[in-house]
Amino acid sequence: MNPLNHVAIIMDGNGRWGLKYKNSRNAGHKAGLNTVEKIIKETIKNKIKYLTLFAFSTENWKRPKKEINYLFTLLENFLTNRINDLHKQNIKLKILGSKKFSPKLNKLLYFSEKKTSKNDKLQINLAINYGSKSELIDAFKKIKKNQSTITEKNLSKNLQTKNIPDPDILIRTGNTKRLSNFLLWQIAYAEIFFEKKLWPAFSEKDYNKIIKEYQNIKRNFGKI
Ligand code: FPP
Repeated sequence: MNPLNHVAIIMDGNGRWGLKYKNSRNAGHKAGLNTVEKIIKETIKNKIKYLTLFAFSTENWKRPKKEINYLFTLLENFLTNRINDLHKQNIKLKILGSKKFSPKLNKLLYFSEKKTSKNDKLQINLAINYGSKSELIDAFKKIKKNQSTITEKNLSKNLQTKNIPDPDILIRTGNTKRLSNFLLWQIAYAEIFFEKKLWPAFSEKDYNKIIKEYQNIKRNFGKI
């Protein structure tokens, strides 16, 4: 059975789900948050140490303002209401991406990270305003500035994911097969699962099915 330390998820399909069932894209985001809660619980049950969730890409700024505002209000409310409970559950929260939000949200993000920084049951990496290409460029710039050599190890150490093992599994829901500038370096050897269901419809059962399938894969890492 393959060890499983890290699951990364591109939570796609909120908008389509919302339009189909509630006539509103934002209703889809709200429902998507329920799936986030369910998947966090199931990740703990499966004793997985790292869960990375792609909540907002650097490209998502191109969406209508109303939708962007709704997403950040959802995130603000989620952190305000849930951070104490996450902390009690020994969950560590880390933000990937650059924190260029409203002063209120920035403060909340720093506070949430600091409060949970010593926790070690599960680490949730929330990717917001995250883009893999700019993360890589920043890493190369840091290496250049420190006049150190470009090696695999050095590059990994200069990414925002330093000290986080690479994902074993990448899941993308929403019936689309692309990577959308997410963890491009880190998923070099991840097992990738493209799931037809839209994120709000993704269930614990679907998640466990993927985990089971992963455990039975023969992972070669280039060997035979
Ligand atoms: C992609 O679906 C999803 C997002 C851009 C936002 C993800 C946000 C959540 C799951 C809820 C908030 C989460 C937290 C942690 C507060 P899409 O809107 O691109 O779907 P579409 O492809 O159907 O348009």
